[in-house]
Amino acid sequence: MILADVKVRAAADADANAMTGLAYRAMESNGHSKEEVAKFADSLHITPERLQSCRFWAAEDEDAIIGCIALEVLERGAGEVRSFFIAPEHQGRGIGRRLIRTLETIAHTQGITRLQAHADPVSVKHYQNFGFRVEGTVPSRTCPTMTVPYMVWDI
Ligand SMILES: CC(C)(COP(=O)(O)OP(=O)(O)OC[C@H]1O[C@@H](n2cnc3c(N)ncnc32)[C@H](O)[C@@H]1OP(=O)(O)O)[C@@H](O)C(=O)NCCC(=O)NCCS
Repeated sequence: MILADVKVRAAADADANAMTGLAYRAMESNGHSKEEVAKFADSLHITPERLQSCRFWAAEDEDAIIGCIALEVLERGAGEVRSFFIAPEHQGRGIGRRLIRTLETIAHTQGITRLQAHADPVSVKHYQNFGFRVEGTVPSRTCPTMTVPYMVWDI
């Protein structure tokens, strides 16, 4: 597989299960056990409601979805990167960068000037490579007693 063969397209309702499966596998690839990942189920599960509230893109090769990303539009020119996952066997090949560029381009057209992300601590370096900086910590959505890095990118 070469990067040029990977297609990025708007995701549809029919992609929800494939993207959810990807989310679980990608989080396990960050070193989280299956038990830990199960605790994040609420935030990992890509439900029909999530597909309505965010704009999703999928990256696919010939026969499967191998990456996804979502943009949630917030108030005052802000947006949040959600559900950003690349299949473990395809990580580090530039697919994440392609997805974030797609999201950035669309965010611009919607008047968004600041993107934020609640990052898994393991992915902070990736986000920094994309242009984000750490602005502090926020309570984890899945486990409010834990905090996670809060990252911001002025686009
Ligand atoms: C984080 C993630 C979405 C990034 O996508 P990716 O396709 O692997 O990343 P890319 O190959 O596009 O790499 C993007 C940049 O990160 C760099 N990079 C790659 N692997 C890296 C690593 N292990 N540590 C730090 N930087 C790394 C690349 O060199 C590249 O920078 P460059 O374009 O300046 O060379 C993906 O690795 C993933 O799904 N990880 C598991 C789940 C996760 O952490 N999701 C995000 C937050 S919950």
